[in-house]
Amino acid sequence: MNKKEMVVNPYNVEGEVNYERLVKEFGLEKIDDKILKKIKKRAGEIHPALRRGIFFAGRDLNWVLDEYEKGNKFFLYTGCGPSGPIHIGHLMVWYFTKWLQDKFDCELYFQFTDDEKFLYKNLSYEEIQKWVEENMLDVVAVGFNPKKTHFIIDTKHAGIMYPEAIKVAKKVTFSTIKASFGFNESNNVGSIFYTAMQAVPAFLPCVLKKKKMPCLIPHAIDQDTHFRLTRDILPKLGYYKPASIQCSFLPPLGGLNGKMSSSEEIKGILSTDNANEVKNKINKYAFSGGGATIEEHKKSGGNPEIDVSFQYLKYLFEEDDNKLREIEKDYKSGKMLTGELKKYTIEKINGFLAKHQERRKNAKNIISQYILKA
Ligand code: TRP
Repeated sequence: MNKKEMVVNPYNVEGEVNYERLVKEFGLEKIDDKILKKIKKRAGEIHPALRRGIFFAGRDLNWVLDEYEKGNKFFLYTGCGPSGPIHIGHLMVWYFTKWLQDKFDCELYFQFTDDEKFLYKNLSYEEIQKWVEENMLDVVAVGFNPKKTHFIIDTKHAGIMYPEAIKVAKKVTFSTIKASFGFNESNNVGSIFYTAMQAVPAFLPCVLKKKKMPCLIPHAIDQDTHFRLTRDILPKLGYYKPASIQCSFLPPLGGLNGKMSSSEEIKGILSTDNANEVKNKINKYAFSGGGATIEEHKKSGGNPEIDVSFQYLKYLFEEDDNKLREIEKDYKSGKMLTGELKKYTIEKINGFLAKHQERRKNAKNIISQYILKA
């Protein structure tokens, strides 16, 4: 079999993702005990996604946490590319971001990149707007503090975004864009410009409040390309480099390679899936690390490392470390069968989504509280 070369950038994830290699190539810092201690000091606890190494790397985390201790509070910035339904990979990042907001009591700027998705996807402007509306419901449903959360929709907030984006864009050459994103002469000019828009929320709050403030960006590792560029430029405009906290990809249903994507044929588990849909997707498609037959499984056990159901529990749906360890042990030993693991995972996902969907139903009524007024 021909193994695909690893490619990880915002517009392409291919091959087997080797996170150690990415840390080296991107020049990331791994989250170590020292950083975890600093987080715990403020938060009083360490989020499961940190304990489990799912958020595992970042940039300037020591610095941003030390500044916080000195009273120089950071704001959070994350975002969503509205081109399809929200899946549990998005939710994983956003629920973690909510935890950060609650624990560090900070403002969150949440960008909806309708311009980006229009420029990169084969969708009309109107279709993208429909996804902005839909996706906003999910972000509201996560339960961010409405008093401290501000939605930026790129084309709607163009009046405040554009003057800042051109300041960034003036400092980026086409050759840098080609090298960073793997573009060539045939990419449309909008997509060449776009990274400037994604840079802006990392300092827009400083513009609005006329105050230099640190920024912390929670994101999946593929977005690092944008923020490497952002970090090069912001000091030239008089702002801090944004810090980041980065996670690995929640595996797609079919197995561990790549990332879950809402535009794939077999969609991941979606925020709006009902109990039956979740059940069918897990039973039918979730890659199993179990033995080929029940006899074999009982004899040699399963492999939780490559088992997608187990990984979903680890990434998001099982908060209890003891329970997770027990499942891991029983699955490895062969005591727990694949069918049992799937059944448990289905219940956990459905429990989680039921609550999310309940809040999503009411989201429309409160959306306007979240949209940045400027
Ligand atoms: N480009 C991201 C996407 O396609 C959306 C995004 C914009 C984002 N700003 C962000 C993601 C900041 C994480 C952090 O999904």
